[in-house]
Amino acid sequence: MKITRLLQASAVVGVAALTLAGCASGSGDSGSNAEAAEPKTMKLALNQAQTHPSFIALEAFGEELAEATDGRWNIEVYPDSQLGDQAEYIQSVKDGVIDLAIVSAPQLENVNDDFVVFSLPTVFDSIEHQMAVLSDDEVVGDVYASLEESDSITVVGGLTQGARSIYLKDKIAETPADLAGKKIRVQESPVFISMINALEASPTPMAFSEVYTGLQGGVIDGAENNEISYFTQKHYEVAPFFSYTRHLIGADFLISNTDTLAEMSEEDRAAFDEGWTKTWEHHTELWNSETEKAIAGAEEGGATFEEVDSEAFVEALTPLLDEFITTDSQQELYDAIRGSAE
Ligand code: GCU
Repeated sequence: MKITRLLQASAVVGVAALTLAGCASGSGDSGSNAEAAEPKTMKLALNQAQTHPSFIALEAFGEELAEATDGRWNIEVYPDSQLGDQAEYIQSVKDGVIDLAIVSAPQLENVNDDFVVFSLPTVFDSIEHQMAVLSDDEVVGDVYASLEESDSITVVGGLTQGARSIYLKDKIAETPADLAGKKIRVQESPVFISMINALEASPTPMAFSEVYTGLQGGVIDGAENNEISYFTQKHYEVAPFFSYTRHLIGADFLISNTDTLAEMSEEDRAAFDEGWTKTWEHHTELWNSETEKAIAGAEEGGATFEEVDSEAFVEALTPLLDEFITTDSQQELYDAIRGSAE
């Protein structure tokens, strides 16, 4: 059913593109088709630094795609939030101002609340489980295609964010009680706000690119993320106490403008899909080694990493499952994900 829907959508767009091409080229040039199209470089917006596995894997994706399509398609990655923050990426991809972007699950939750399921504590058992789910068309095909008609956004696939933990400016948080009254930066989404409220702390929604100065200036007392972003964004310099709460395994998604994808010939689209599979596999491989490096680098810079009562954090967050799984489609997605756990 999903595939049929995709084929129908690309057929419609394909006809529209041919009609437009016909108009633009005038009556004398009826031979124009995807093969003869100008080479296209897709802009990809990323809020991570060039040392982050996402940048490394996506840069390689662009190179491979250019090679596999004889230069017809390329990707230029704009790192470091050069093209704005993730909340803006959604609109820019929808408008076709940029073709591709990496956004965190909570950003998509704001467009379709089924995506909340990917941010719930305990939904994924491990990075391996998560990546098996995020690349399984049977489980995620419908939700990935759900924004195509309404928003012209196709979710191409997912990347892991690893386990997220809490870090503070002044101390290790051994239990949720240590967070009482602390202002903790969260991603701009209902589930992350509820998460910090459930820990009796005070959530402050903020764009990723503003977290360093927020911590430095004391607007916030802490934040939550994985070790790699903690290190590559230099948050350890201003919040050196990293507590292994591991309250959830976060997900990022590669989103694309649906019309841009429909411009690809069948052969080029196959090269894109194949390249994407290699990309997320490469990214997952890099994740472990880069996490080790991030820990070592942050420790060298004065950070402390400590195991804490992570069970207590997860337990405090369990009510979120009932709070956020409220529709049949959310329940179905949740059950499918849990059903695929070992
Ligand atoms: C992770 C994730 C990003 C996200 C960020 C955040 O680093 O990979 O996509 O933007 O967390 O906390 O905002």
